[in-house]
Amino acid sequence: MERVQVPALREVCVRVTVNGVPHACTVPARTLLVHLLRDRLRLTGTHVGCDTTQCGACTVDLDGAAVKSCTVLAVQADGHEVTTIEGIANPEEGTLHPVQQAFKDEHALQCGYCTPGMVMAIRQLIADHPDPTQDEVRHALSGNICRCTGYQNIVAATLHAARAATGARGPADKREG
Ligand code: FES
Ligand code: FES
Repeated sequence: MERVQVPALREVCVRVTVNGVPHACTVPARTLLVHLLRDRLRLTGTHVGCDTTQCGACTVDLDGAAVKSCTVLAVQADGHEVTTIEGIANPEEGTLHPVQQAFKDEHALQCGYCTPGMVMAIRQLIADHPDPTQDEVRHALSGNICRCTGYQNIVAATLHAARAATGARGPADKREG
């Protein structure tokens, strides 16, 4: 009997640059970007919290835009550039990304499960809005769920990182929107 090829099971070659390193991976066409990153490239800093576009734990940068990688097919990243949480620190200088450093300074994590997605989303927020208000931060992070912290220190870390990015000095700005 002739086998029927189910399109979603067809294998495709995905060429993607991740954290500056080019990769070519043959995967089933239905493979999600988050699974390519975690299961094939072993970049397990990108987490899966829901698989249904709600929690934001899987947030990565795709060509300069923060995306939930459980919502993107791996094949959609073919020919594009992805940055994950593993790619944003500066190991040569031994420094964290300013958002990572702000999370450390403001004690903005507990279990840490949401943290990579939070950091990647905040990185995008600060790139788009270098001087966000507290309300803008809370609105921007509405697609990222944290079960532990109560968000207060995450908001403080975001404002702290924004100030660091713009060269401002002094304690984290906790002004109201
Ligand atoms: S795992 Fe992607 S949004 Fe939750
Ligand atoms: S620190 Fe535990 S879910 Fe956010």
